[in-house]
Amino acid sequence: MKKLSTISWQDFKVLPLVEKGAYFQGEPPHTLIAQQFSRGQLESLCTLATKIKRINKRRDGANFLKTLLSDKRAMLYFAQPSSRTYLSFNAACQILGLDTMDVRDSKTSSEVKGESPEDTVRTFSSYVDMIIMRHPAGGFAERVAWMLAHTNREIPVINAGSGADQHPTQALLDIYTLERSFEDAGGIDGKSVAFVGDLKRGRTVRSLSWLLTLYNDVKIHFVAPEPLQIGSDVLALLDAAGTEYEVTQDFASVMPLADAIYMTRIQDEWDVEGESRAIDTSTFRIGAEHMDTIKPDCAIMHPLPRREEICTQIDNDPRAVYWRQMRNGMWIRAALILSTFGRQDEAHRYYDEYKPEE
Ligand code: NCD
Repeated sequence: MKKLSTISWQDFKVLPLVEKGAYFQGEPPHTLIAQQFSRGQLESLCTLATKIKRINKRRDGANFLKTLLSDKRAMLYFAQPSSRTYLSFNAACQILGLDTMDVRDSKTSSEVKGESPEDTVRTFSSYVDMIIMRHPAGGFAERVAWMLAHTNREIPVINAGSGADQHPTQALLDIYTLERSFEDAGGIDGKSVAFVGDLKRGRTVRSLSWLLTLYNDVKIHFVAPEPLQIGSDVLALLDAAGTEYEVTQDFASVMPLADAIYMTRIQDEWDVEGESRAIDTSTFRIGAEHMDTIKPDCAIMHPLPRREEICTQIDNDPRAVYWRQMRNGMWIRAALILSTFGRQDEAHRYYDEYKPEE
């Protein structure tokens, strides 16, 4: 096992992503990048998420779950806008009886007094047993985990979205949603997944496309206007993993082939001077008129929030799984938090004993 406490920041920050991942598996485990996961870990998290969901359905089960982390506290540090990710983490903590505190705006923390972001996070670590954080700076969550590993209070860090580069827990809930959508169709192996929209700056796509390399014979279609196309760094990772992909602007040709279509919004908060306004995105959307072309059992996904890329008319089509996808986030995040504290076996034992129904 590789230890963050034994490597310098200079040496660590230049490591390839897959090598970095090995440093996050220690004690405590951190969740920072998609590249740290194995397929086995994804499968265990999905299984645990489903068990938590079923246990939680009954009052005695819900009461049991609330004892699992009743001795722990977590800090939700969200220095970037968030609705779903914040709420689902908060709900996941509540399910497990884990108390939370939050800072949702750096203006309300001592950063305005000139405190460094590192000191701010180190301060949080004095009061809590886990930090769940979203930050506009790519790589900052890694820096925090590294920094805490060099103090006498290394607590687990979960990356709830960093810059335009990583959103590992969104990728987990996306995998959970795909697993459940393809439950009766042989799972994710062999499926064709289309990513559509702003693939250049969409961190959810960057994290999820890596997780798909852990499955066999998956084909990825990256569908975007040229200036918003997926980064060459992601393609290099897919090449190294031997995952097949296509890069195209032609959504109409991909629609009838895809087993899952993952839509994304234009991430114009990263524009320097409104440059995305000049990009024609009109063909990178799904409207009611496309539903006959899309496969009858396709999973239409979206990390949300959406704009016009999915028309609301299709919201009640059984293929539109984005609302379910959002709720899945709560269960998989509960599974992740419980596993981070190493207490998953208690949930497994309860499940085996009481066998809650579906
Ligand atoms: C995404 C994000 O923050 O990256 N939202 C989310 O976490 N569900 C996607 C987005 O903002 O477009």
